[in-house]
Formats: sequence, C-alpha cells, structure tokens
Amino acid sequence: MSVERLIERKEVVICAGSGGVGKTTTSAAIAAGMAQRGKKVAVLTIDPARRLADSLGLPELGNEERQVDPARLRAAGLGGPGQLWAMTLDAKRTFDDLVDAHAPDAQARDAVLSNPIYRELSNAVAGSQDYMAMEKLHELHQDGHYDLLVLDTPPTRNALDFLDAPARLSRFIDSRSLQFFRAGSRAGLGLLGKGSAALFYVMKRATGVDLLEDVAGFFNALGDMTDGFRERAKRVDALLGESRTTFLLVTSPRAASIAEASYFSRKLRDADLPFGGVVVNRMRDQVKARPGPKLEAELAGLLQEQLARKVVHNLEDHLRMADRDARNTALLRKELGRRPMIEVPELPGDVHDIAGLAAMNAYLFAGG
Ligand SMILES: Nc1ncnc2c1ncn2[C@@H]1O[C@H](COP(=O)(O)OP(=O)(O)OP(=O)(O)O)[C@@H](O)[C@H]1O
Ligand SMILES: [Mg+2]
Repeated sequence: MSVERLIERKEVVICAGSGGVGKTTTSAAIAAGMAQRGKKVAVLTIDPARRLADSLGLPELGNEERQVDPARLRAAGLGGPGQLWAMTLDAKRTFDDLVDAHAPDAQARDAVLSNPIYRELSNAVAGSQDYMAMEKLHELHQDGHYDLLVLDTPPTRNALDFLDAPARLSRFIDSRSLQFFRAGSRAGLGLLGKGSAALFYVMKRATGVDLLEDVAGFFNALGDMTDGFRERAKRVDALLGESRTTFLLVTSPRAASIAEASYFSRKLRDADLPFGGVVVNRMRDQVKARPGPKLEAELAGLLQEQLARKVVHNLEDHLRMADRDARNTALLRKELGRRPMIEVPELPGDVHDIAGLAAMNAYLFAGG
C-alpha cells in the first residue's frame, strides 16, 4: 500500500517511533512525496543529520520554515506541482516565542527571557523538546498556510513520552513545586528540605550566584502566563486526537524496536488516537542466492579460497538476518490486523540527501 492513500485526506502526520529507526528521514521523504503530488507541505524535523539539512537547504538554527529549492527536488526526480517547506525545530526558540506570546507586557517577558537560569529550565519546564514540537505544530496548523504538516518526533528513550507532553506541561503548571516557587523567594528557604536549603547556600557561597533568587524570580514571572500555557496545552492535545491527524509508527525490523512499536500501537488505540499505520524501515531483503556446493563452486572459479569462504559466511549471515527481520515483521503485522504496514528496505548507503529520500519514496509510495 502507498503511504499516499493513508494520508491524502490528512492535515497532520506524526512520525513516531523509538530512537534511530528513521523517523527524520521518513518524515522528510513523505513530505517530499506529497509535495511532488501537489500538496503544499511543511516538514518539521528535529535535529536532522547535517548533510540531510544541507540537502534540504536548512540553516543550522531553524525554527522557521524554508522552501526547499524546487530545482533540487526536480534534480532528484521529485519535482511536482506542490511545494516542500522544511524547518528544524528549535525547542528553545519555540519556548521563547511562547513566552513572548503569553507575557502580559514587555517587562514580564524580559524578566523571564533574561533570567540566567531560564535556559537551563526551559527544557525541563516545557516537557522539553516533545512539547515544543507539538506547540510549533499547533501554531502552524492554526496559521493554515499548508495543506499538510509532517512532524518528526524527538529521539526519546520511550516513544510514548511525547504523547504525554501536553498533560505533563499542565501538571507542571499546577504542581506544588511551581506554586511553591511562586510563593517562595527568600521566605521559601525555610520551607525547603534541609538538604536543598543547604545546597542553595553552599552554591551561593561557592559561586556567588544566588540560585534561589533566580529560581523564584523566574517562576514568579512565569506565573502570570500559566493560564495561557494551560489553555494552549489543551488545544495541542486536542489537535493530536483529531480525525485530520494521523500517527505513523516508524520501526526497524529488530526485535526490540518491533516490540516497542507493538506496545506503542496498543497505546495509541487505547488513547483513542488516530493511528494510521506502520513503516518498517531498513528491512534486510531476501536474496535469491543460496549457500551450498553450487555457489561454492562458482565462487571458487572467481575468488581465492579464503575470500570465497568469507563471501559464503557473509551471505549466510545476511540470510539469517533477513529471515529474522521477516519473522519479526510478521509478528507485528498479525497484531496490526487490517492496519497497513509499509516496508522499506535497507538502502545501500545512508539516506542523507534528496536523492536518498527519492529512493525511500520508491517504496513508501509504491503502488500508489
Ligand atoms: N532505509 C534506509 N536505508 C539505509 N539507511 C537508512 C534508512 N533509513 C534511515 N537510514 C539512516 O539511518 C540513520 C538514522 O535515521 P534517522 O535519523 O532518520 O532516524 P531517527 O529515527 O530520526 O533517529 P533519532 O531517533 O536519533 O532522531 C540515518 O543515518 C539515515 O541516513
Ligand atoms: Mg530524528
């Protein structure tokens, strides 16, 4: 099945999965493929490999969409009537923009942004990159400039983390620690556990930085904006569940990754989230050649004995791995029932440019 059928009526595609399975390349490939088919698409990538970013024409520091040069797409065989836009998500910038949007006035905004520990805390506070990715997604969806948004997701240890991000932000806003720090400042010192109070004190003596005052100042300034944040988190959460949104799970055919994909797919269904299908990326293909006397005889005519033996071993290894990939994938397919599964083979060499995306699309969009 072609990925096109899965997403032609969608406005948001979220590529999720465990670390290193190909979420970023799959997101970019799908976005390019849909642009080729006439849509105005934006892909929100997270920390793409430098070479892929260069190929897409993305600057080091992103957070703004840039149109991918149509000539480059054409050169890779991906020319078409649509447009491809891409950006690299910058969690900190997104958070800055969020503070900017919700601050009651310039003074409050600057109080947060110029706080010395804002940078350290902004990741923790916002549920890190996870939340910021969806925040940006929501913003772009709201603006309505694109037919389709493709969201790459960050490499979390647990592929589920980001789903929980909006709720985590809301929980944090309502958490006692935030309330405490808002009420806190110096008077709060006495309320801290003895250990932390001592720690703050020692740090101040050692470094001259009054961490507690910075922390209190930060949360006080942030405090006025929390209603806006909470409201926003709710809307981001709602966008994830809409019928115009779909989740694509990306997985490798390795056992651990398949197990995680299967767990994740159950979670998506339990949470009543729109689950489109699975991309199994980097399948080792079955090959026709079989080790045996015939092959050995053929190789003997071509190669020196030792090398011939290595080739046979190599083939055996490959076949074993291809078998394993096929078995693992079959397990997941059974569990998915009628939900589509699209297989992309291990391509020769990395996928690091638009031509590589085109090579992936030969499989992602096959039969479309
Ligand atoms: N089908 C494929 N064949 C060969 N190489 C591939 C294939 N798909 C992805 N790769 C390579 O695998 C590496 C990881 O891919 P990618 O960065 O897309 O994974 P990711 O899931 O986004 O990783 P992370 O979780 O770290 O963000 C890249 O070097 C990419 O070029
Ligand atoms: Mg990635």
